[in-house]
Amino acid sequence: MAPRTLLTAGITGVGMSIPEKRLTNADLEKIVETNDEWIVERTGIRERRIAEEGVGASFHGAKAAEAAMEHAGAKPEEIDLIVVPTVTPDMVFPATAGLIQEMIGATNAWGFDLEAACSGFLFGLQTARAQIEAGHAKKVLVIGTEIMSSILDWTDRNSCILFGDGAGAVVVEAVDPSRGGIIDAINRIDGSGAKFLHQKAGGSLMKASRESVENNLHTVFQAGRDVYKYAVKGMAGVTKEIVDRNGFTGPDVDLFVPHQANIRIIEAAQRRVGLEDSQVAITIDRFGNTTAASIPMALCVANSEGRLKEGDLVVLCAFGAGFTWGSTVLRWTAP
Ligand code: UT7
Repeated sequence: MAPRTLLTAGITGVGMSIPEKRLTNADLEKIVETNDEWIVERTGIRERRIAEEGVGASFHGAKAAEAAMEHAGAKPEEIDLIVVPTVTPDMVFPATAGLIQEMIGATNAWGFDLEAACSGFLFGLQTARAQIEAGHAKKVLVIGTEIMSSILDWTDRNSCILFGDGAGAVVVEAVDPSRGGIIDAINRIDGSGAKFLHQKAGGSLMKASRESVENNLHTVFQAGRDVYKYAVKGMAGVTKEIVDRNGFTGPDVDLFVPHQANIRIIEAAQRRVGLEDSQVAITIDRFGNTTAASIPMALCVANSEGRLKEGDLVVLCAFGAGFTWGSTVLRWTAP
């Protein structure tokens, strides 16, 4: 058997798709006891997008994937793997990856969903990278897509104001290492954090029942203050670790693209690495927390605003339910 050569994987296209309907903080004031000032000050969120009833994660996921393929100049039949990080799949099974495969006509692909909550995109990117660098796949789609509005308790002001719907996708393929590509990734999981952020019912532990529905147990439960503490420590720590271990310092970073959960968590991570505001991608004001979709959506917005060019040093980081967290450092290789 011929020896395998290790390749370098890079992002070669990005795309996104969001629902048209905006839900502003003023709209939320009519639903729960809250106010615009509190939400903006504590989270940085001004509005979020909400999907129409009956629209599943596959719909925006497929649109984001099509946009990413167009950006990369890739045809659907060239895609050999579809990874879909999501906590809001269309159905518990089958995989949303398959539903998207059919919608986009990726006739030569295999695929699966990946559940790592807000870190799902980074875990998916690392999976794509491993497949490509080992020579098992040539073009991989990683599609973070969420309809978070489908699992929110609209009577709980602690959580319903935070999340939004949307999808972001990237094409990952082998790139000429002199152009850049993925340099390093650190990913972590710690199940002792499960008690702070989860959905109680609907899995195998607690099946759907009249009680589970009446008690809103099919929705996001979050102990906000606890998660906040761990998120600051996790995101700031892992970002600093990956920047240091690759010999970079704050000024080397062209764009820091963090998971968008709370502006104050982002600022804490930014301070730890020594970054100016101009080095940070912020979309939380427009989209809220879109879980696995937030990083690819922020990459897409940054790209369309002309904030990313070939060779730029990009640092991604995330923290989410699990707990899961991680950071990836790469040089930009998309047009
Ligand atoms: O993406 C996955 C990971 N998730 C995260 O990273 C989220 C981490 N957590 C957070 O971002 C923050 O903890 C929240 C934004 C969820 C909450 O902010 P906080 O500064 O930690 O507020 P708190 O929970 O400590 O609540 C402070 C006060 C409370 O009132 P009392 O008890 O001090 O009288 C809350 O009842 O704010 C009250 N409050 C609200 N007031 C107006 C909570 N939610 C609201 C609201 N509007 N929506």
